[in-house]
Amino acid sequence: MKKNILLNAFLFLVVTFTYSQNIKNEPKLGKDKIGDIIAAMTLEDKVYLLMGLGDANWTNPASGEKTVIIDGEAGRTWDIPRLGITPAVLTDGPAGLRINPHPEGLNITRYCTAFPTATALATSWNTELVENVGKAIGNEVLEYGSDVLLAPAINIHRNPLCGRNFEYYSEDPIIAGKIGAAMVRGIQSNGVGTSLKHYAANNIETNRNSINAVISQRALREIYLRGFEIVVKESQPWTVMSSYNRLNGFYTSENYDLITTILRDEWKFEGMVMSDWWGGVDAVAQMNAGNDLLMPGCSQREELLKALKNKMINEAVIDRNLARILTFILKTPRFKGYVFSDKPDLNGHALISRNAAGEGMVLLKNDKNTLPFQNIKRVALFGKTSYRYIAGGTGSGEVNYEHAATINESFENSGFKVVKPLEDIYAYFIDTITKASKDDNKKFVVDFHPELALNKEQIISQVKDADIAIITIGRNAGEGADRPVSDFSLTDVEKQLIREVSEAFHSANKKVVVVLNIGGVIATPDWRDFPDAILLAWQNGQEGANAIVDILKGKVNPSGKLPMSFPMAYADVPSAKYFPGEPPENPVNAFYSEGIYVGYRYYETFNIPTAYEFGYGLSYTQFEYSNIRLSSDVFENEIVVKLDVKNTGKKEGKEVVQLYLHAPDAEIEKPIQELKGFVKTRLLKPGESQEVTFTLDARALASFWTNISSWVAEKGIYEVRLGASSKDIRLKSNFTLPETKVVEKVHSVLYPNRPVNEISSQKP
Ligand code: BGC
Repeated sequence: MKKNILLNAFLFLVVTFTYSQNIKNEPKLGKDKIGDIIAAMTLEDKVYLLMGLGDANWTNPASGEKTVIIDGEAGRTWDIPRLGITPAVLTDGPAGLRINPHPEGLNITRYCTAFPTATALATSWNTELVENVGKAIGNEVLEYGSDVLLAPAINIHRNPLCGRNFEYYSEDPIIAGKIGAAMVRGIQSNGVGTSLKHYAANNIETNRNSINAVISQRALREIYLRGFEIVVKESQPWTVMSSYNRLNGFYTSENYDLITTILRDEWKFEGMVMSDWWGGVDAVAQMNAGNDLLMPGCSQREELLKALKNKMINEAVIDRNLARILTFILKTPRFKGYVFSDKPDLNGHALISRNAAGEGMVLLKNDKNTLPFQNIKRVALFGKTSYRYIAGGTGSGEVNYEHAATINESFENSGFKVVKPLEDIYAYFIDTITKASKDDNKKFVVDFHPELALNKEQIISQVKDADIAIITIGRNAGEGADRPVSDFSLTDVEKQLIREVSEAFHSANKKVVVVLNIGGVIATPDWRDFPDAILLAWQNGQEGANAIVDILKGKVNPSGKLPMSFPMAYADVPSAKYFPGEPPENPVNAFYSEGIYVGYRYYETFNIPTAYEFGYGLSYTQFEYSNIRLSSDVFENEIVVKLDVKNTGKKEGKEVVQLYLHAPDAEIEKPIQELKGFVKTRLLKPGESQEVTFTLDARALASFWTNISSWVAEKGIYEVRLGASSKDIRLKSNFTLPETKVVEKVHSVLYPNRPVNEISSQKP
């Protein structure tokens, strides 16, 4: 008996020793080669690491514990302590960090700064400003303990009804690319990651998890992939997020040509690709395509394990993906042991947000210098949104800020008198609808509630107490649904409000300003003649209302320009006939029959009038463009274009100079002109000038020629057009390309799985 005890004790010691020796001998991430770490993994380890945790699936199957790291995170990656593999926290954006402000079990708050929405940032056309915003967002990511911001989102504004347009930048891929690259640079300068999304062609929210975007190779290359290409080449995001939709027959996350051939082989993307949350259906195909990480992915574990055990998937493929995940983890602050403070500089960031908001608005109309205010002390604020400012859209792009200033509050803080009886009417209205709402989240009740109908008497009685009327019109939307066509137009109540307030105030010789606190393009022609001025304020973050008042009173001179066109009517939108898809009630396919003719490329080539053209925006001052000079009149490798811009008005201000190119179209049909570059001047004092420089390389001259799958610059005369908008061209000059140039040959991939019958400017 005693002998047995001794033997057992001896065996126990041997086993324990061997086990601890094994643990000691296990390779560790950061100390040993990634290949060795992968070699030390069991099949189960591998499958676990290829998937994250998140959404409704937080439970760690091994321990049964809930495994949220930062409350409110969108998800996290798996950890394997044995091998020194730490988890990485993935949190949403893009308008700021999205986490829970009241983390469970902790006696602290984690409010984040709501920055201007993506559309508003793009409206600044200011890459330096966007990079600064990125720096501030990245700092909150770092100091609140996250590793990656799931942003920027750079899908093209193909159609104004897309529910997520506020999260996206522009109808033009150069803007989307340049602004997106600046955002990535800013965020990543903190040593945290970004996830460039949604790759690609996620322009429709209706049936977003299955809809098949049918797009020609040319439209893909020139419009829908171009922005991604620019961001990847200019700023190497740590990760890219594939989208929900199918593209030309395949789920994007399952498409090798999209994720490997183009993204990695052609553009040299070095990072990791993750799926959108629950995106795609076939885990094996996703792995093969190079979609390294499935988010949150837990439901595919069994499927993938079975495939590995049955050799239905090559283990080398899995190991390749794992190597990319581990390379990513090595870069994260959490892996490096960063101790986050939970104390980002929220006051400093509020200021950055306010300055950015000031550049993210467009003065659409300003008759007889209505703005900036002169001798205005008392303001009558009409419209529910004057009292409940919409800082950003809904869904994963929503930020949990502590407080968003409202317009009435901002006026009061600026020393204005807000007309009280009117304020009381709206306060009562807002209180009543909020109390009556059965929604758990009361934050959006006012946004989605129809506007209050005031009677004439209620309107007229405000006139005597006010020096001016401000009418705010609000709209909100978010992921998972597109806006109905009805949302594009103002309602009868809204139009009546604008008309009757304008009549009442005009008859007393007082002015009326409409402020648009909206996330997407709306109709303007049927009401824009009534007010004296219109400020397109977008959804400009928590400081947006303060920035509106800064502009109205003239503290800030508006310098934003439209990063998209405002059509005369929804029916004029080139994709209107095909949106959301076929069949319209429950679309399966979305035919992008407008091809490359998106936004201004369409309106200008087909001579369709717009309400406000692409690149449009007024200022309180004027700018003169002069002295255009080209480095050569014959193109060899590049052309440098220079001009002088002078502030000839009476107020200091910034100007956005836009370079459009009109290219010859001998073989390849082309839009009449395309944006090739933009520069925002510094703040110019009255009388001050700035020299502005653009460089055009061969790629800027090229269009995608599908037949030979190449970017081709056609020989002939190119006209350089420098303008204050796409229509307001101030200077022109020419250069010649003597011989047609194949600038770059690429793979002929991603052809449409169904015929897409594209419109053409050359068809009768
Ligand atoms: C959205 C993504 C987001 C993810 C995580 C998805 O529904 O499409 O943009 O990053 O959820 O919250």
